[in-house]
Amino acid sequence: MLIDGHGRRVNYLRVSVTERCNFRCQYCMPEKPFSWVPQENLLSFEELFKFIKIAIDEGVDKIRLTGGEPLLRQDLDRFVRMIHDYKPDIDLALTTNGYLLTETAESLRAAGLKRLNISLDSLKPAVAAQIAQKNVLGKVLAGIDKAREVGLKVKINMVPLKGINDGEILDILEYCRERGMRVRFIEYMENSHANEEIRGMHGREILERIKERYTIHRLGREGASPSYNYKIEENGYIFGLIDPHKHDFCESCNRIRLTAEGHLIPCLYFDEARSIAEAVRAGDVDAAAEILAEVLRDKPKENRWSETENEGSNRAFYETGG
Ligand code: GTP
Ligand code: 5AD
Ligand code: SF4
Repeated sequence: MLIDGHGRRVNYLRVSVTERCNFRCQYCMPEKPFSWVPQENLLSFEELFKFIKIAIDEGVDKIRLTGGEPLLRQDLDRFVRMIHDYKPDIDLALTTNGYLLTETAESLRAAGLKRLNISLDSLKPAVAAQIAQKNVLGKVLAGIDKAREVGLKVKINMVPLKGINDGEILDILEYCRERGMRVRFIEYMENSHANEEIRGMHGREILERIKERYTIHRLGREGASPSYNYKIEENGYIFGLIDPHKHDFCESCNRIRLTAEGHLIPCLYFDEARSIAEAVRAGDVDAAAEILAEVLRDKPKENRWSETENEGSNRAFYETGG
């Protein structure tokens, strides 16, 4: 079992398979063009898998593949199958912008993927295009349909932004409710890579919009997730709110992150990271396991998010996968 220096059990590994993305979301990577880390710096699936096996053997039972946009990585279904076949009962999920799902959902499902979290920030083509800086909505909605059709369990993530999509909170909620999908509204997390003019909505403001139509009751957090669930009295629908500016979820934090280059990151908002690249490239499983143990020992107690604007880390969310 993996226990960190503060006695928390770590059972959730988020693996970013690429920092590249086919969107340029204003709140994430607005610049065009973008300079990427060279392709040769990426760990291969086999190299990533060497580490993943260690983590699973030590008790990790939830793995989420992230990006950038993970579906840009060639043959991702092969990687999903490697993980699934090693531990078929693992909670194996993926976070995506949905754009490539019409082409990939079926093979990912066949390979053993169980769940998908898909970003959907607007139901209006022009607004979705304004946020992602690309005409994306048609393909994303078709991707959501396809994913559900092949039997993947889908959750939706929306980041409400002032003056852009803040009028669509209820529309997105109804879209998800009608389809029996959970939506989580996420507070915009300020970061130095985003468009400076972007302003997020406070969790409280998001709830106010929903209260204009419904009576809501706060339930609680889903396990160690940063998401708080709320139930709508009128129809029983449950939605989530992720307010990362709070750090009350840090005390039950159960996760670590691995980037495509092999950086093992103990917390989203701390610069500290250790590389397992050399160890896995040399096939030195013991050395990789030792680095994992050290990263866990030094995992910070809580993020420093709320002190001032993201003073914790300048690392981009497209590198860590959020
Ligand atoms: P589930 O397994 O469905 O609960 O997924 P998840 O919420 O772990 O994954 P997802 O990739 O959908 O993340 C949703 C949002 O939560 C993202 O915007 C993340 O940035 C944010 N988030 C995830 N983990 C952390 C964390 O450790 N700290 C903070 N502050 N935010 C997080
Ligand atoms: N603030 C809040 N959420 C963000 N995401 C990406 N960047 C940010 C940010 N700056 C969200 C995406 C995706 C999830 C993994 O993280 O919308 O749904
Ligand atoms: Fe790409 Fe996701 Fe960042 Fe948007 S938020 S640019 S989809 S990585």
